[in-house]
Amino acid sequence: AVLILLGPPGAGKGTQARMLEGEFGLVQLSTGDLLRAAVAAGTEAGKAAKAVMEAGELVSDDIVINILRDRLAEPDCARGVILDGFPRTTVQAQALDALLAESGQGINAAISLEVDDAAMVTRISGRFTCGDCGEGYHDTFKAPKIAETCDKCGGTGMKRRADDNAETVASRLVAYHEQTAPLIAYYTSKGVLKSIDAMGDIDAIAAELGAIVKQAT
Ligand code: AP5
Ligand code: ZN
Repeated sequence: AVLILLGPPGAGKGTQARMLEGEFGLVQLSTGDLLRAAVAAGTEAGKAAKAVMEAGELVSDDIVINILRDRLAEPDCARGVILDGFPRTTVQAQALDALLAESGQGINAAISLEVDDAAMVTRISGRFTCGDCGEGYHDTFKAPKIAETCDKCGGTGMKRRADDNAETVASRLVAYHEQTAPLIAYYTSKGVLKSIDAMGDIDAIAAELGAIVKQAT
C-alpha cells in the first residue's frame, strides 16, 4: 500500500504517520527526516539542503526525488509506505507516479490534513522530539509526563529543530500554499484524495485517519 499525507507544516503529518506505522505495520517515509539525516551526516545532498531548509524553502526536486527513490528501494518498504512530506511539488508527484508504475504499484489514498495557518505557528513553536527514539512532543498539547524525559524510552536528550522559529515557519507556510497545495487538485483528479479536519485532538484525528486507511488498503 502507498499512502500520502498532505498538509502544511505543523498539520500533524509526522505525529499521525508514526501512529499509523504502529497500527498498520507501514513504513513512515519522511523526506524531512531523510534530509535532516543527510545534513547531519554531511553528505553532498545534505550540504546542498542545509541552508535551504533553514530558510524554510523547498529543497530542489532532484535531491528530494533521489533520496526518496533510494529509500523506497529498501526491502522494508515492501510492507507498504506512508509518505510524510512528499510529494511537495507537481514535479515530485509525477516522479512518484513514474516510480510506482515501474513496480506496478499505485497510490491507495492521498489524505489532506486541513488546518488553520494561525494554529500552525503555535503547534510548531512548541514542538520537540526525543533524540533517542524520535517520539514527538509539544509544550502544551503533548507534554511528557516527567519534564524533559521521554514517555516511551526514558531518554532525556530532547531536541528542537533549527527551522522551528516563527520567521522560518512563515516561509514554510508560503512554500506550502504556493507549491504544495496544488497537489490537492492533482490527487482529486486521480480520484484518490481524502480530506480530514485536522484541528481536533490527536487521537480523534488518528481514529478518522485509521478508518480511511482501512478502507483504502
Ligand atoms: P518536514 O520535516 O517535512 O517539515 P514540515 O512539512 O514543515 O512538517 P512538520 O514536520 O513541521 O509538521 P508535521 O505536519 O509533521 O507536524 P507534527 O506532527 O510534527 O520538512 C522540513 C523541511 O525539509 C522543509 O521546509 C523543506 O526545506 C525540506 N523538505 C522536506 N520534504 C521536502 C520535499 N518533499 N521537497 C522539498 N523540500 C522538502 O506536529 C507539529 C506539532 O504539533 C508537534 O509538537 C505535535 O505534537 C503537535 N500536534 C500534532 N497534531 C496535533 C493536534 N491535532 N493538536 C495539537 N497539537 C498537535
Ligand atoms: Zn524516546
